Amino acid sequence: MKRWVTDQKGISHLRQEEAATPTAADLKDGEVLVKIYAVSLNYRDTEVCSGTYGHHDSVSDPEPFVPCSDMCGTIVESKSVGLPPGTRVISTFNQTHLTGQCTEQDLASGLGLPLPGVLAEFRIFPDYGLVKVPDHLSDIEASTLPIAAVTAWMALNTFQPVGYPIAGSDKTVLLQGTGGVAIAGLQIAKALGLTAIITSSSDSKLQRAKVLGADHGINYRSTSAWDKRVLELTGGKGADIIFETGGAETLWKSFECVAFGGVISAIGYLSGKEDSPEKRWNVNVMALKRTVTLKGILNGPRERFEEMLQAVYTKEKGLKPVVDRVFEFDEAKEALQYLESGKHFGKVVIKVT
Ligand SMILES: NC(=O)c1ccc[n+]([C@@H]2O[C@H](COP(=O)([O-])OP(=O)(O)OC[C@H]3O[C@@H](n4cnc5c(N)ncnc54)[C@H](OP(=O)(O)O)[C@@H]3O)[C@@H](O)[C@H]2O)c1
Repeated sequence: MKRWVTDQKGISHLRQEEAATPTAADLKDGEVLVKIYAVSLNYRDTEVCSGTYGHHDSVSDPEPFVPCSDMCGTIVESKSVGLPPGTRVISTFNQTHLTGQCTEQDLASGLGLPLPGVLAEFRIFPDYGLVKVPDHLSDIEASTLPIAAVTAWMALNTFQPVGYPIAGSDKTVLLQGTGGVAIAGLQIAKALGLTAIITSSSDSKLQRAKVLGADHGINYRSTSAWDKRVLELTGGKGADIIFETGGAETLWKSFECVAFGGVISAIGYLSGKEDSPEKRWNVNVMALKRTVTLKGILNGPRERFEEMLQAVYTKEKGLKPVVDRVFEFDEAKEALQYLESGKHFGKVVIKVT
């Protein structure tokens, strides 16, 4: 079989190689062999391939390995009672994270670092590390869900027990940028009937977000005081939930435009991982100013993935992930470079077979 391998020295160093195709004889009890059809890319994958994904202490650097974590495929051999051959499946990111909060141990089961990833034609999985694909989604669409959509689901709904409905509430959500997590968050928020404000560096991307249902768009380049604009748009109240994907350049503004008692879901660091030194207040003061909860998100457990599929990715609701562009397997470097450029809107996918 074909697979891509990274030595974490840069996307341009990725190399494609031949490896032995696993067979039924390689399976242990509870494992399945999956023929992979589609792999979707995440910001993390660009960092992993570049050797800059270093903020989890428990994630050590292995030998050259297969990158990427999100795939959709079909089981071709099975030693699992619940997942027979022919079942279409999607991978979960931290494979042992089945319920509750993510632990250090769960991080050690992350696909595409530290465990070998999915940018290959076949891979063996434990059955607990897979979920079944909703019938109405194509392989390409389904492959986008494990990191982006599950993270968005948790960012919207993290404190609630499984099954608790947030639909129909009058909450306002602020989404930063138009990448994978933000666009999944926008789609889910609108499917639940929430009000959505989204920021982007591009007016044309804001137009596309409006077509998806965004109630308001703010260009964070031309409106650098976008926090004040969020307060204006919400009648001075602020956003109840903020998808904090920006990090260094956005967090302090998020504290200024979150509603009293609101939640900032700390997701990413697209504008950097370290604060600039001129910040006036520390995070403690910023949190108490508007009685804010700053909640770190690390993807989500499998049970919340399944909850999300049943709640919004149903045929009846008709929700389909936004796929910006699909690359061929041989174009993996170009696909990762395209994602790194930030030109995309939603998700970028590699077709494997
Ligand atoms: N904690 C978790 O579980 C988790 C899960 C997934 C992702 N993440 C993190 O969340 C972040 C987003 O991930 P992703 O996969 O959605 O990334 P992505 O698809 O690569 O998002 C890229 C987009 O982010 C926007 N962006 C860049 N700089 C920005 C800024 N200063 N302010 C606002 N938006 C900005 C740009 O949108 P425009 O072109 O519209 O400006 C860009 O196109 C990354 O840092 C990633 O590591 C964390």
